[in-house]
Amino acid sequence: MKKFDNVTILDHPLISHKIAILRSVETRTKDFRELVEEITMLLTYEAFKDLPTHEVDVVTPLVKCKQKMIPENSVAVIPVLRAGLGMVPGVHTLFPTAKVGHIGMYRDEQTLEPQEYYCKLPEGVEKMRAIVLDPMLATGGSAAAAIDLLKSKGCKDIRQMSIIAAPEGVERLATAHPDVKIFVAVLDEKLNENGYILPGLGDAGDRLFGTK
Ligand code: PRP
Ligand code: URA
Repeated sequence: MKKFDNVTILDHPLISHKIAILRSVETRTKDFRELVEEITMLLTYEAFKDLPTHEVDVVTPLVKCKQKMIPENSVAVIPVLRAGLGMVPGVHTLFPTAKVGHIGMYRDEQTLEPQEYYCKLPEGVEKMRAIVLDPMLATGGSAAAAIDLLKSKGCKDIRQMSIIAAPEGVERLATAHPDVKIFVAVLDEKLNENGYILPGLGDAGDRLFGTK
């Protein structure tokens, strides 16, 4: 795959270990959900690295000092329904005050193009860092459409966080939105003829919510 400046692929033994368990067909819903949450925490650590902070006064038992904190109302996470919902707890464990917006999208089974069916964003989202959450970046169509939508609402500081990506999806998204930093836990081999990521993990929504 071509190298893109706006793409970070996490390369870490903890990620590889957790993703190996996540992929396995033997991994049941409860463990699958917990792993998605844990991997999301590791992605969040990276995606928050360059967040602006402001100085606040803190009184320790010994002295008063200046400390850096993330201002209120500066982060919104936008899970793409359904599977993106599984990533929200991972962000909230590390940063409980992140606002949450929802974008509903499903892939048309024939064309694989995303169909939008729901959108509810936090008030003032255009002033926040908006982080799109979706564990699977396959063709990249859903992510690109979600980001188009956020830009049409005035968002300027946008990130994409995904757990497994296909090279096709990364290329499409990085080309369509070169200003958006993309954080991916692992880059897989390719898509199959039905638009599923290989080796992948199957249908993330079904595995998270036990629908199949
Ligand atoms: C899955 C996944 C992404 C999308 C990725 O959702 O959660 O949103 O496919 O594919 P793409 O990169 O080719 O657009 P799906 O359409 O299966 O909807 P669901 O989560 O509601 O089942
Ligand atoms: N959506 C999924 O849930 N899995 C894939 O492999 C591709 C799209």
